[in-house]
Amino acid sequence: MKPISEFPRLALAHLPTPLEPLRRLSTELGGPEIWIKRDDCTGLATGGNKTRKLEFLLGEAQSEGADTIITFGALQSNHARQTAAAAARLGLHCIVFLVRKVKYDEPAYGTSGNLLLDELLGARVEIADDEAALARRLESVRAELDTQGRRAYLIPPGGSNTTGALGYVNCALEIDGQCRDAGITPRAVVHASSSGGTQAGLVAGLAALQSEVPVQGINVSDLDTQRIVTMVHELCRQTCERIDIPPVSADRIQIEHDYLGPDYGIPTEAMREAVHLAATREGILLDPVYTGKAMAGLIGLIRAGVYGRGEAVVFLHTGGSAGLFAYRDALTR
Ligand SMILES: Cc1ncc(COP(=O)(O)O)c(C=O)c1O
Repeated sequence: MKPISEFPRLALAHLPTPLEPLRRLSTELGGPEIWIKRDDCTGLATGGNKTRKLEFLLGEAQSEGADTIITFGALQSNHARQTAAAAARLGLHCIVFLVRKVKYDEPAYGTSGNLLLDELLGARVEIADDEAALARRLESVRAELDTQGRRAYLIPPGGSNTTGALGYVNCALEIDGQCRDAGITPRAVVHASSSGGTQAGLVAGLAALQSEVPVQGINVSDLDTQRIVTMVHELCRQTCERIDIPPVSADRIQIEHDYLGPDYGIPTEAMREAVHLAATREGILLDPVYTGKAMAGLIGLIRAGVYGRGEAVVFLHTGGSAGLFAYRDALTR
């Protein structure tokens, strides 16, 4: 494996994040020991998984001499908020292009949560009604930057390319070491999967260690189930190539699709239960879009007997709690 230290990287995250047992939740569910990997504590304006990706993405941006960072997401994108925070820390200009793609309607969704934080963090926020409008706006903003002599670095939605995935290769190494220290061999690492960089990086990192621990993604974003599997597998293949290890076989890409509900960003009953259980039993804040549905998936798999007593599972908390404030009505009714 090519050492991670050979890739350009900036120190932005509080690492290693803790790996802790969730004793009360485990007892209540009566199944395996649940451990939580606290990537909601990576730092940067309420933390989350994007901080790890941004260490490598912005390391690359810096090595290319960029002074402006452009990225993309949904209106309540955690990735956009963390990119805005990282850019503020580094003194870079940041433009976030947000699309109104989630058909969720409550006043706070369009004003609070991550959107409020993007503005507080000093990002220029460009909101478009659809992808076509976004593409047009992007073109005119790029022309404007060119005339100002600015050099832009574009980060794809979710920070999910092979550079971003390196952050989760690194996280896999961390999880492996912490599980050894804790004396556990998890049946799986369970987490929310969306743009794929987290899962692709974790799978590649564990494969590099020749670990047999499966990564269980929970689909929180794509109604086309085959598309997300193919996308994660392809990104994983490219990530393996980047770190110079053989590609993984298709069966290492495990994604559970039953917890997405009607669509990305649309609340489900199982998400509400998971958010409520984590908060009231463990004092842990999940989020409505990603980790709430991922925890609903873990709970569902435990109730179905997939993971049982005498086993351990690791839940990777990928952050997102700022999004809670955009879903007040859904969570309090
Ligand atoms: C809180 C949170 N969890 C999980 C994910 C999914 O990670 P990935 O896009 O790498 O699949 C995201 C992505 O935006 C996120 O914001």
